[in-house]
Amino acid sequence: MAKWVFVSLLLILQTAVFATEPITPIPQKIPYNTLKAAVGKKLFFDPILSKDYTVACITCHDFQFGGADPRVFSIGVDRQNGRMQSPTVFNAVFNFTQFWNGRAKNLLEQASGPMHNPLEMGMTTPQIEQRVNASASYRKLFRTISGRSHITIGDIAEVISEYEKTLITPNGKFDRFLRGEGQLDTKEEEGYALFKRLGCASCHNGVNVGSNSFQKFGVIVPRVWNSSTDDRYALTNRESDKNVFKVPTLRNIALTAPYFHNGSASNLKEAITAMSYHNLGIQMSNRDIDLIIAFLNTLTGELPIKAITP
Ligand code: HEC
Ligand code: HEC
Repeated sequence: MAKWVFVSLLLILQTAVFATEPITPIPQKIPYNTLKAAVGKKLFFDPILSKDYTVACITCHDFQFGGADPRVFSIGVDRQNGRMQSPTVFNAVFNFTQFWNGRAKNLLEQASGPMHNPLEMGMTTPQIEQRVNASASYRKLFRTISGRSHITIGDIAEVISEYEKTLITPNGKFDRFLRGEGQLDTKEEEGYALFKRLGCASCHNGVNVGSNSFQKFGVIVPRVWNSSTDDRYALTNRESDKNVFKVPTLRNIALTAPYFHNGSASNLKEAITAMSYHNLGIQMSNRDIDLIIAFLNTLTGELPIKAITP
């Protein structure tokens, strides 16, 4: 707990230092428990957590594709299609809530979601606990952590969420620019100015360039609402929450196509065209879209090589 107070203070301090810019750099390091993260890493790659042993977290959060899924919808157990596009796990620790509609308040609460989701890993709590407790190597690893010989779902979620704290991507070109350690080129700088001037930064801001509020897709020009979507409405049943989602992070956005909750934009040009039209009411020129893309490319950070190598 104290560690998190510390991290929050650090983020507030950063916000103060970089107060003139809507985006703050990703911290170089955040505290996590090394032992727990190591066990969480093993589980992240292990299909043992899925009913038919066909999927692991890594299946739908592929580090070669920015920690997301290049498929429009992921395929879970029994070769079933999901119905939301898989978002990145990189920097998810900085999201103000988890999932497109924010139904989990943090990574710990999120971690047991996919294991229990019938379309994803399709397990029940007793099945998960039985599988992991049946493994001598996991029993040994967890005993080193907790001193207990029985592993619970809570232990499993905890180590996975601890591992996810290692998945941060600091030192991208834009962060180095914010810290005064490097320059943007002319196109990137113009793109950033445009991003602020047009109003993109009113929703996409903070350390994750998003992920700190819920907003509608279609604020200005409504978008046809698809009722099978897990939007905020699916949680709250409030009419005004239709088509409302957690604003996604734009960190590493160049790596995580396709875009939107339903994967309906296959590249950045399509995503920016739709965003600026539906959420700002403008039709952007190709030149301006190119400038924004140049800026967005500077949001690709340094991948945590040690953490993502199996
Ligand atoms: C079958 C594919 C699949 C598997 C397996 C899977 N995920 Fe996901 N993950 C998704 C999808 C799809 C979403 C978005 C669902 C939603 O928001 O409704 C998601 C969302 C998330 C998020 C929230 C990110 C955000 O920006 O809100 C995190 C964190 C995450 N998954 C971690 C994990 C972990 C840890 C595991 C393994 C225990 C895992 N996932 C297994 C597909 C998968
Ligand atoms: C009113 C708030 C708001 C504004 C303004 C806004 N966005 Fe978004 N943005 C969102 C929301 C909400 C989503 C998720 C929509 C969805 O998935 O259906 C999103 C999604 C995106 C995505 C796709 C991210 C992903 O991982 O799928 C990109 C790229 C993007 N926005 C860029 C921009 C740009 C560039 C601008 C300015 C031209 C902009 N946005 C303006 C709220 C906003």
